[in-house]
Amino acid sequence: MKGVILAGGLGTRMNPLTKITNKHLLPVYDKPMIYYPLQALINAGIKDILIVTGGNYAGDFLRLIGNGHEFGLKHINYTYQEGEGGIAAALSLAEFFADKDKICVILGDNVIEQNIRAAVEAFSRQKAGAKIILKEVPDPQRFGVPVFEGDTIVRIEEKPKKPQSRYAVTGIYLYDNQVFDIIKVQKPSDRGELEITDVNNVYIEKGQLTWEVLKGWWTDAGTFESLLKASTLVAETGANKMD
Ligand code: DAU
Repeated sequence: MKGVILAGGLGTRMNPLTKITNKHLLPVYDKPMIYYPLQALINAGIKDILIVTGGNYAGDFLRLIGNGHEFGLKHINYTYQEGEGGIAAALSLAEFFADKDKICVILGDNVIEQNIRAAVEAFSRQKAGAKIILKEVPDPQRFGVPVFEGDTIVRIEEKPKKPQSRYAVTGIYLYDNQVFDIIKVQKPSDRGELEITDVNNVYIEKGQLTWEVLKGWWTDAGTFESLLKASTLVAETGANKMD
């Protein structure tokens, strides 16, 4: 399976921190933010990786990570997202790289404690479709939130005012190659973005979405509060443990 890190967008929510650097290069405790999703993919056994960068100072990713030798990789692929068309728009740039393979996608501002290898292996055995990873959170209204009927997810609501469950859809998504055809016919949301939640809802309609709950802590680092939380969690317990 191939890996895709989505680190596009403009990071305007975090001004003035992002005025002179890219959001994904900001420090989370003792490392640049992008190191965490990169290490998460590598720990899951994924070595063929594409980083979708974007916004300002995208060139600094190359200076920082280069060909990934520091991470034990031989090579890393990069591409550039113009503007801020949304997570699904950033993902569409990975079609050529994926080359019909299944992909594990992780958002560039997501930090996790435990290894996702088991989920990746389970998805490689899944015939077709997609898999999402959930985590119980105190503030689901900030995220994509699954609506359940029994054990089945019947839809996902993006940042609902009244969340129907206590789970967030984390920024770790596993897709088969249908994802690119789904994105091609997608329409922008009210905020003018191609939403990853809409992509996941198409898989739900097809009856092809599986899910599991992440072990260990999970956080994004894309707001001032969550950036501080991520740094504290990493400092106190460490991230990207091997099992
Ligand atoms: O972190 C998990 C959440 O991420 C999910 O629960 C939500 O369903 C999903 O929509 C997303 O919500 P956010 O509002 O946190 O997404 P944000 O716009 O902050 O983007 C998160 C990352 O996605 C960002 O660090 C880089 C990447 N991205 C985002 C946009 C808008 C891109 O690569 N390109 C983009 O155009």
